[in-house]
Amino acid sequence: MEHDAHTEAPTHAVPPSEDATVDDWARDDAEPMSVESGAAPAEVAAADAGADAPHAPSPSAAVAAEGVKEIQSSLQSLELKINVATQEDAHVVEDDVDQTKRHLNVVFIGHVDAGKSTTGGQILFLSGQVDDRTIQKYEKEAKDKSRESWYMAYIMDTNEEERVKGKTVEVGRAHFETEHTRFTILDAPGHKSYVPNMISGASQADIGVLVISARKGEFETGYERGGQTREHVLLAKTLGVAKLVVVINKMDEPTVKWSKERYDEIEAKMVPFLKSSGYNVKKDVQFLPISGLVGTNMKTRMDKSICSWWDGPCLFEVLDRIEVPLRDPKGPVRMPIIDKYKDMGSVVMGKIESGTIREGDSLLVMPNKSHVKVIGLNLDESKVRRAGPAENVRVKLSGIEEEDVMAGFVLSSVANPVGAVSEFIAQLQILELLDNAIFTAGYKAVLHIHSVVEECEIVELIEEIDMKKKKEADPKKKKPKRKLLFVKNGAIVVCRIQVNNLICIEKFSDFPQLGRFTLRTEGKTVAVGKVVDVPPAGSPTF
Ligand code: GTP
Ligand code: MG
Repeated sequence: MEHDAHTEAPTHAVPPSEDATVDDWARDDAEPMSVESGAAPAEVAAADAGADAPHAPSPSAAVAAEGVKEIQSSLQSLELKINVATQEDAHVVEDDVDQTKRHLNVVFIGHVDAGKSTTGGQILFLSGQVDDRTIQKYEKEAKDKSRESWYMAYIMDTNEEERVKGKTVEVGRAHFETEHTRFTILDAPGHKSYVPNMISGASQADIGVLVISARKGEFETGYERGGQTREHVLLAKTLGVAKLVVVINKMDEPTVKWSKERYDEIEAKMVPFLKSSGYNVKKDVQFLPISGLVGTNMKTRMDKSICSWWDGPCLFEVLDRIEVPLRDPKGPVRMPIIDKYKDMGSVVMGKIESGTIREGDSLLVMPNKSHVKVIGLNLDESKVRRAGPAENVRVKLSGIEEEDVMAGFVLSSVANPVGAVSEFIAQLQILELLDNAIFTAGYKAVLHIHSVVEECEIVELIEEIDMKKKKEADPKKKKPKRKLLFVKNGAIVVCRIQVNNLICIEKFSDFPQLGRFTLRTEGKTVAVGKVVDVPPAGSPTF
């Protein structure tokens, strides 16, 4: 469901690092570590607004973090020297990834035609990865297809169908760097038919860039019911995208002309919605105006002659400075497999959600409990010896046939493997049932949880949670013992869910990335939720 953007360009996707001898051993320490808090999904946001973002630093925390950074960077350079000296076969590690920079996956989301691919393409152009000749070629090709203004999007939209229709279908993938960060861009499709692909992109991301078109009428269409702006935000939050950069795009457009009123109008409408989706707007969200097509306020701050009222930062600055909670590199290995292929062995692809994978490691592919050995590890285009949390990697395995691996399986440590279950207890929020359907035991939907896509059935409604009452809950008061038969749109309900095949999931409180999910029917997201309980270890059922 993904493709590498910009394969035709002559330059390498990641600019080569100056020091090609440095390996990846210092990667874990490249930035201060904090434990993933697991931002709460939308359904709990109303109850604990603000409590789900403990990582945005207070001023004093920021000072302390600076100190820690300094110590860590000197430790890191020391470690780098030691590692370079002790590494026996540095030459086999074709290492052009700058290991001293942190790595973040950023998904571009938003309504169809908001300018996600254009902005992504412009980022690659501005960071020097696409040369003028390629741009000229794309300009010509776009013109031939009567899609003149789409040439920047062609950098990300690489297949013919996407270029002809001017719509992203598969999640485009590309890499770029800012001063302190290596980014993997995941360019999601905005069209409602491709929401499952968007879910796959967002589930791999740490942060999101929500692209909104300021053009007259376009913001409105994207924002209204049925538009993808709201759906994408809710999905991103549920899927673990901790921070959002909201870019108000197309500010150059003749109906906008860098109007402050238009910018303010859109921001004012988005803020309450983002809050209700579970984002702490002060800590987790940053707005800024750009023109993705022209490239304004992206790599450098814009000139006052273009926009007199904007004093804030440009996009590269915001992305470079964004603070995200890091996951524990020493935790048990959890890597949901998103894809696989054969290449003198079985190669699996995915994002490491917890732990560190090293060459030579013995691991388990779950739920099959297949014992495998890591015989190679690739990060972007480079071979590495190990990779930590949040890295998108390709892992070559021995001990398993490629046919025996499926998307949704999880690469896991042997000592503390992920559970394989056929039922779980979830707390979910009903968003929008089709045709006023009621939500009862027997309701069937498609479950999307990390890279798993499975038919599921709600087998028992356990309890409806009343957010207002919950706040004044009286622990002495006994709950009525009446059985809950149904709930309606908007309800928050605890229920038991079953699937036919074994799936590898975790409690949200233990591994948020493997414990949050969406339910979809007939191409619409009907509910978002989190796993609150799983059967005891070793048992697929309660
Ligand atoms: P999907 O992938 O189909 O969801 O669309 P997208 O969000 O990737 O939009 P895309 O980048 O394909 O751009 C859609 C149209 O908007 C193209 O015609 C772009 O040229 C135009 N566009 C994008 N950004 C800007 C901008 O900053 N200014 C102006 N004027 N047009 C823009
Ligand atoms: Mg696109």
